[in-house]
Amino acid sequence: PRTAAVIPAAGRGVRLGPGAPKALRALGGTPMLIHAVRAMAASRGVSLVVVVAPPDGAGEVKSLLDAHALPERTDFLVVPGGETRQESVRLGLDALPPEYDIVLVHDAARPLVPVDSVDAVIDAVREGAPAVVPAVPLADTVKQVEPAAAPGEPEPVVATPERARLRAVQTPQGFDRATLVRAHGTVTDDVTDDASMVERLGLAVVVVPGHEEAFKVTRPLDLVLAEAVLARRRL
Ligand code: C5P
Repeated sequence: PRTAAVIPAAGRGVRLGPGAPKALRALGGTPMLIHAVRAMAASRGVSLVVVVAPPDGAGEVKSLLDAHALPERTDFLVVPGGETRQESVRLGLDALPPEYDIVLVHDAARPLVPVDSVDAVIDAVREGAPAVVPAVPLADTVKQVEPAAAPGEPEPVVATPERARLRAVQTPQGFDRATLVRAHGTVTDDVTDDASMVERLGLAVVVVPGHEEAFKVTRPLDLVLAEAVLARRRL
């Protein structure tokens, strides 16, 4: 089976502070998106990477890919994204040639995922799971709250799920292509990851071990950590 990776990279990165779209910000002097593309292409199982660019930035992203060294055995496509992550992923799926039957969806905002994690997800899909997510245990206890009645009001706690049974879910998430396409064609509510759409269809989603270096660069402190991880790798 042939595997393609879709990289949604159309987010503005508001939480990271003012500046370029998040995926285009530099990490160790190289745009975050290029790190993410290389992380996918590093897997021998991935033969196509589809980058979903900011809606008005597809040309810029194409030039970026041309300007950076990428493995020759991998093909690349760039398509313009949408208003939401979900829409961006769907636009990426629409661009996939027919011969790919396994699809990875990987956040551009997770530039440092190690290749072993990518391979583990692909292997689990090849072994028959329709949907696979890499995940790690939580350090923090998580509480469910009732949203504050008014800004600045305290938030009442509703529940505390047992921490040992919670996982923080990362990407790449891996799917049987037909399953993911069906999920994107059926589920219309707002979701924050692709696997939850497959769950809504009533299908099984399995977890494989994630990696601490696959964290999502969201806030300014995450950039500090990402720079430190890169520097350590270059030692
Ligand atoms: O906002 P969040 O951190 O969940 O974004 C995760 C990934 O989805 C990022 O790589 C971001 O660029 C992408 N995204 C997108 N299109 C949007 C919003 C987010 O491709 N409209």
